[in-house]
Amino acid sequence: MTTRILFVCLGNICRSPAAEAVFRSLSEEAGLDVSLDSAGTAGYHIGKAPYEPMQEAGIARGYDMSSLRARQFSAADFTDFDVIIGMDMDNIADMKTKRPNGNTTPIRLFTDYTSDSKSSDIPDPYYTRDFEGALQLIEKAGAGLIAWLQKDGSGTFP
Ligand code: 4NP
Repeated sequence: MTTRILFVCLGNICRSPAAEAVFRSLSEEAGLDVSLDSAGTAGYHIGKAPYEPMQEAGIARGYDMSSLRARQFSAADFTDFDVIIGMDMDNIADMKTKRPNGNTTPIRLFTDYTSDSKSSDIPDPYYTRDFEGALQLIEKAGAGLIAWLQKDGSGTFP
């Protein structure tokens, strides 16, 4: 069965498109059946391609995100995906304000899938300018999510 995964950040031009591109590559390598998308809690950049410095950092590590276009997260995403993964705690708080009554779709922090005991936000490279550091964290969290899907992909999202 296809697992539908949505990656969410604030603008949908840096972290979440990078997460989508990285995770597409990792899941293809692993042969996992997933359907992926990304969105932003804010509508500042709707229709735009990922931020150029983010794209360049991605290309340097083998990820092409040029075909992605920003869209805004909406309540419909709670029914269209099996799990929704935020890049930081603000993303998660913002998404929760849009959750329809009774909906139980899991919302997770991406770094929860790393083996580090403490979860943390993926710092926004639009402000930190550390695009490579963001990609490294995304690769680590992505690998953790792959490992979980391989182990228990049909179960409840941890
Ligand atoms: P993202 O980064 O949430 O990782 O896409 C941002 C990009 C743009 C803005 C904020 C965050 N902005 O305010 O324009």
